[in-house]
Amino acid sequence: MSSRTFRVWRGEAGAGDFETFEVAVNEGEVVLDVLHRIQATQAPDLAVRWNCKAGKCGSCSVEINGRPRLSCMARMSTFDADETITVTPMRTFPVVRDLVCDVSYNYVKARQIPSFTPAAGTEPGELRMQQEDVQRSQEFRKCIECFLCQDVCHVIRDHEENKENFSGPRYLMRIAELEMHPADTADRRVIAQDEFGLGYCNITKCCTEVCPEHIKITDNSLIPLKERVADRKYDPLVWLGEKIGLR
Ligand code: SF4
Ligand code: F3S
Ligand code: FES
Repeated sequence: MSSRTFRVWRGEAGAGDFETFEVAVNEGEVVLDVLHRIQATQAPDLAVRWNCKAGKCGSCSVEINGRPRLSCMARMSTFDADETITVTPMRTFPVVRDLVCDVSYNYVKARQIPSFTPAAGTEPGELRMQQEDVQRSQEFRKCIECFLCQDVCHVIRDHEENKENFSGPRYLMRIAELEMHPADTADRRVIAQDEFGLGYCNITKCCTEVCPEHIKITDNSLIPLKERVADRKYDPLVWLGEKIGLR
């Protein structure tokens, strides 16, 4: 057992400060274990959100030394022995208390996406898909909704004013998944750009870097979606159709 220094942000809705704790750490522990020890021994009212402690529920997202991470997957052994560990709530979302954020923005955006739309009259069990199409969707469905990609994206991280018009990488990925689904009949290219803010994304790839499920958000969903939007925009038939009011 060794002793480590933790700086933890404490406070509510914009008003708060760091509190420093000297805390014991055992071999094999993760940051969430240490936060729980602080809660058990020094700050019983410390607010920390978590659930599975296995990297699968997406609840324990925080920023550790400035980097968005799951606290249950951040091994203490990966930090230098004399390094102070600073833990802050996700910066993109309003703080409820201490390390707990209000992430309801994400659920609002999720609800705005038109749902899967198979051809009219399709009966259950009738759809057939190529394995390639199944695998593409499966990558996106590994998402645990930790919202770390949403937290890190610069479009909304320091720009509250963009939240209305930008759904963030997680939900642009959902639109891409549906747009690339062979049995979905809806054309989502116009809404991706006009209603969900695809054009705000300038492919910085920070979302991909922080994803704990290692989903290639940018390369496999955002860029292909941008290509589809561009294909539609510069399609001469679409241009002509819009001119004469058919599309
Ligand atoms: Fe988290 Fe990755 Fe899903 Fe974003 S795409 S919410 S980072 S699991
Ligand atoms: Fe944001 Fe990811 Fe695009 S971080 S700018 S959505 S590549
Ligand atoms: Fe579930 Fe960390 S507690 S992902």
